[in-house]
Order: sequence, then structure tokens, then C-alpha cells
Amino acid sequence: MYVCICKGVSDRTLRAAVAEGGARSWREVREETGCGSQCGKCARVGKSIVREAIIQE
Ligand code: FES
Repeated sequence: MYVCICKGVSDRTLRAAVAEGGARSWREVREETGCGSQCGKCARVGKSIVREAIIQE
């Protein structure tokens, strides 16, 4: 599912940034994927997906 339309980032990409990319914060995921860096509408959903992924690590 696409989370970020502006940058074409899916929930899978966000989880991979944590699991494989080693990101440990929303900021790191944002820098790595571009999610939330344009209109910002996806930031809330993106953040909650990333938070959950970090907890599961
Ligand atoms: Fe993600 Fe616009 S939908 S920055």
C-alpha cells in the first residue's frame, strides 16, 4: 500500500528502511525514503508504521 503519494513510498519500503536499512527513527526513515518530505500529509501514518517497525526490531 502506498503511504506517500508524492514520493511513491509504500509501507513495505518504510519497514525495509528499518529492518534492512538500519534506520532507527522517523527522521532517518524520512531521509532514506523521502516519505513525508513534500506535502507532509503522509507523515502521521508514516510515523506510526515506522514506530511499530522499530519496536519489532
Ligand atoms: Fe508524502 Fe506528500 S504524500 S509527502
